Amino acid sequence: MAPDAPGGHAVPAPLTPPLVELRPLVSADAATIASWSLDPRFVAGADWTPDLSLEVHVAFQLRIVTDPPADLIRLGAVHEGELVGYVDLHGHEPRRRELGYVIGDSHRWGRGYGGAAARAGLAYGFGVLGLTEIWAEALTGNTASVRILQGLGMTEIDHGAPGPYRRFTISVGS
Ligand SMILES: CC(C)(COP(=O)(O)OP(=O)(O)OC[C@H]1O[C@@H](n2cnc3c(N)ncnc32)[C@H](O)[C@@H]1OP(=O)(O)O)[C@@H](O)C(=O)NCCC(=O)NCCS
Repeated sequence: MAPDAPGGHAVPAPLTPPLVELRPLVSADAATIASWSLDPRFVAGADWTPDLSLEVHVAFQLRIVTDPPADLIRLGAVHEGELVGYVDLHGHEPRRRELGYVIGDSHRWGRGYGGAAARAGLAYGFGVLGLTEIWAEALTGNTASVRILQGLGMTEIDHGAPGPYRRFTISVGS
């Protein structure tokens, strides 16, 4: 707590900045995102196509930044000024979208960025886009992603249903 303000009221200390903040992507981010393709662990975890050249990845990422598909909102996830991932809100329904998130490359995994990015994505979807429902899915074996979705307070749909994915949803007011 900072020293008392005039009048005897304690002044709250500055809030700690969030671990991850979201911002629009810019063209320069394409090279950063593409560079994660050089990390085989990341490529496997993110299910990117292996064995593509860096140039192909840069061109692909640049196209998404400059001319994204109509149903995709992709935001950069930034920690202390550095791009550490991105968050997707995907879908064509006016009030409902799918949340996706990626942290790259894999040396940044396990530091809380994924959970923080996903939480910021939910806040953006509900608070800025005015969505009423956000859903997400994770491969059953993707423990980190499943824990993120559970940690966000999302409800699992069709728990135990056959198939490789576990699906989660959260609605306004739930
Ligand atoms: C999934 C992913 C985003 C997680 O990012 P991250 O920064 O490592 O996540 P966090 O550090 O916030 O950890 C999230 C949770 O998973 C746990 N976790 C992290 N790595 C783990 C691992 N290898 N095994 C088990 N649990 C793990 C953490 O302890 C944390 O759980 P907690 O909140 O209960 O403590 C990241 O691995 C990634 O980008 N993977 C490739 C893309 C992907 O799978 N995206 C999700 C599908 S849309």
